[in-house]
Amino acid sequence: HWVVDNPVDAKKSYPQIKEAATLLQKGEVVAFPTETVYGLGADALKDEAVAKIYHAKGRPSDNPLIVHIANQSQLNELVATIPEAAKKLMGAFWPGPLTIIFKKKANVLSEKVTAGLETVAIRMPNHPVALAVIAQAQLPIAAPSANQSGKPSPTTAQHVLDDLKGRIAGVVDGGETGVGVESTVVDCTAPIPVILRPGGITKEAIETIVGKVSLDPALKDKESQPKSPGMKYKHYAPDMPMYLLDGHIHWIQKVIQDEQAKGKKVGLLTTEERVPQYKADVIIPCGRREDLSSVAKSLYDVLRKFNETDVDIIFSEVFPKEGVGLAIMNRLEKAAAHQWMVEME
Ligand code: TXA
Ligand code: MG
Repeated sequence: HWVVDNPVDAKKSYPQIKEAATLLQKGEVVAFPTETVYGLGADALKDEAVAKIYHAKGRPSDNPLIVHIANQSQLNELVATIPEAAKKLMGAFWPGPLTIIFKKKANVLSEKVTAGLETVAIRMPNHPVALAVIAQAQLPIAAPSANQSGKPSPTTAQHVLDDLKGRIAGVVDGGETGVGVESTVVDCTAPIPVILRPGGITKEAIETIVGKVSLDPALKDKESQPKSPGMKYKHYAPDMPMYLLDGHIHWIQKVIQDEQAKGKKVGLLTTEERVPQYKADVIIPCGRREDLSSVAKSLYDVLRKFNETDVDIIFSEVFPKEGVGLAIMNRLEKAAAHQWMVEME
């Protein structure tokens, strides 16, 4: 567990960065911060290294990994073609929280990275520590989120240690991550780009660059099969049941009281400005409602905090599915296993 004191100035020559890069070159797994969440990295070219990621996380082997790069020339080594839409999106959003699906070049990456698919997910993260580690290692780095499979993604080095201590070679501590939800995954192998996972770059922002994009039907209809294998798993889940409550404050308060009347301890996920308006056993605020990016930033930490409480049930307020709200609601719906309660007129 190495601390980078001033991540903004992270240089390849920092001893912590060098140590992380050396371990990656030796085929070990090392966690590092990105602008979205902490990633668990390994050499994407080497089967044994990539296998260690799946093993450390307890990740199903049919769920492919995102390859992280630090510069454009690394991309050319990995993909068969670069479609026009992808060029525009990279120009607008790289480095940044946008993962693009390309047709892969044959026989370069470990087969374990792509889980047998003909495509590969690639992103250039916008975090000085991540970029320095990748550049120093001089390797494409396969990196899923650095959580135990099924847990909320880690937004601090402590979250990584809580989940994976003893199972990984180390974590570079660059402080709390900024965006808080994972990158947007967009498939550019189709004529019209398709968003497979909403994330840090909004659908609206993508449309200003490439025009109309579509959403994978599985994002709207939970019965259809997602194109992104990882989206089918129950994810981000706290240990106790969770419900999304769509209604006014007084109705939500009544739902809480009804549950307490049955002898249940109730936790509530709300936003800072609404805390004084509620009574529950545990209330954890998640950002401010008028600034959805602040909600995204705190979301996983808040879900982890509920796990440390003794509440029997968690109720969560809902957010508009606009901007980063689409990613927030996607993660909340998974955490709640799609259980909703809606206020009647
Ligand atoms: O922000 C992020 O993207 C973080 C940081 C560490 O970069 N990484 C991350 O990785 O969230 P992970 O493994 O937790 O999620 C990767 C997602 C999964 O849903 C996976 O199924 C999908 O990307 N994916 C990877 N390769 C794919 C491919 N070739 N086609 C479709 N989906 C793919
Ligand atoms: Mg993940």
